[in-house]
Amino acid sequence: MNVYADHAATTPMRACAKEAMLEALEDFGNPSSIHSAGRLAAVRLESARKEVAELLNCRPSEIYFTSGGTEADNWAIRAARYGDGHVVASAFEHHAIIHALKAMAREKERHVELVKPERDGIVDPERVRRNVSQYTNLVTVMAANNEVGTIQPVEEIGREIRKGGNKRTIFHTDAVQAVGHIPVDVQKMGVDMLSLSAHKFGGPKGVGVLYCRNGIILDPLLFGGGQERGNRPGTENTPGIVAMAVAMREACENMESAAAKTRELRDRLIRRIKEIPDSYIHGSLEKRLPGNINCSFAGVEGEAVVIMLDLAGVCASSGSACTSGTGEPSHVLTAMGLSRKDAYGAIRITLEETNTEAEVDYIGDQLAEIVKALRK
Ligand SMILES: Cc1ncc(COP(=O)(O)O)c(C=O)c1O
Repeated sequence: MNVYADHAATTPMRACAKEAMLEALEDFGNPSSIHSAGRLAAVRLESARKEVAELLNCRPSEIYFTSGGTEADNWAIRAARYGDGHVVASAFEHHAIIHALKAMAREKERHVELVKPERDGIVDPERVRRNVSQYTNLVTVMAANNEVGTIQPVEEIGREIRKGGNKRTIFHTDAVQAVGHIPVDVQKMGVDMLSLSAHKFGGPKGVGVLYCRNGIILDPLLFGGGQERGNRPGTENTPGIVAMAVAMREACENMESAAAKTRELRDRLIRRIKEIPDSYIHGSLEKRLPGNINCSFAGVEGEAVVIMLDLAGVCASSGSACTSGTGEPSHVLTAMGLSRKDAYGAIRITLEETNTEAEVDYIGDQLAEIVKALRK
């Protein structure tokens, strides 16, 4: 049996997104051209912007299309290049944040404070506030973690920042794993900036969004033409953007039923995993994305399990797709307080509503056999 259980790494494209993309490929005009072909592309582009804005509950003028989550994250944290230079981030952000912050700190002598999550994979808003001061010009905490799937109290963190920071302290959230899976509303969350990526909710790869509240001055990453109101030059990826908006609409509209079905599948598999002796599930089970399981088995290497699962036809991962193969234990799990040895043992299984009970039972059977064989 072949089972895809690595939806946090990427998702298959939705049929509606493929169809919209093909249509947009036919109307190939450059949205910046003033002739009819260009105008047609511009109309498609602007209606996608409106759609995305509506789904995030913001204005179209606050949406900037990017090449994906990494660009949106890198761009967002550049806002910290101005001001007093104090930045606060959670210690288990995606590397698109952590590495970009490190690079910026080297270049501009910014001071970056990394706040550790609690053992259950949740960032304590109080702890964030203790690190925020009137000199803080950026705080970034992800909406949901990509390895353990824990959902962060973004709204509460925002409130704490307003107490401890100055009026200009910018609050950014990386919502790449959250959008399309749990409700995301920039007004309710109280964020100034937010990143998302289309391929995590059934859209195409290489396209994403940076939401930036009107009034915040963006520091461009790229220089060139006047696209995206002069802030993000380069001819827009119209087919990708159009497909992203369609995928996002479908994911958000079906969110509740999809989440309920996914949660059932996940809990079914968790029950099977718990039957395996000395197995551990990492991160809060309550405040968690519907499809995420992050677990380990005492005495067994995560990478070995992933390879054997692959041989059995199951696609899973031993952590973030971006760091697998580096030989380093997960910075997410070590930030949560796991030892390096325990962090090496972890595997991540991420399901969606398109998975079936038969597939989940198959994964459970395979895991039980693989762990037994590796322990021998
Ligand atoms: C939380 C998070 N942020 C950022 C990214 C990077 O997004 P992209 O692959 O679109 O560059 C990912 C991708 O795995 C992610 O999970």
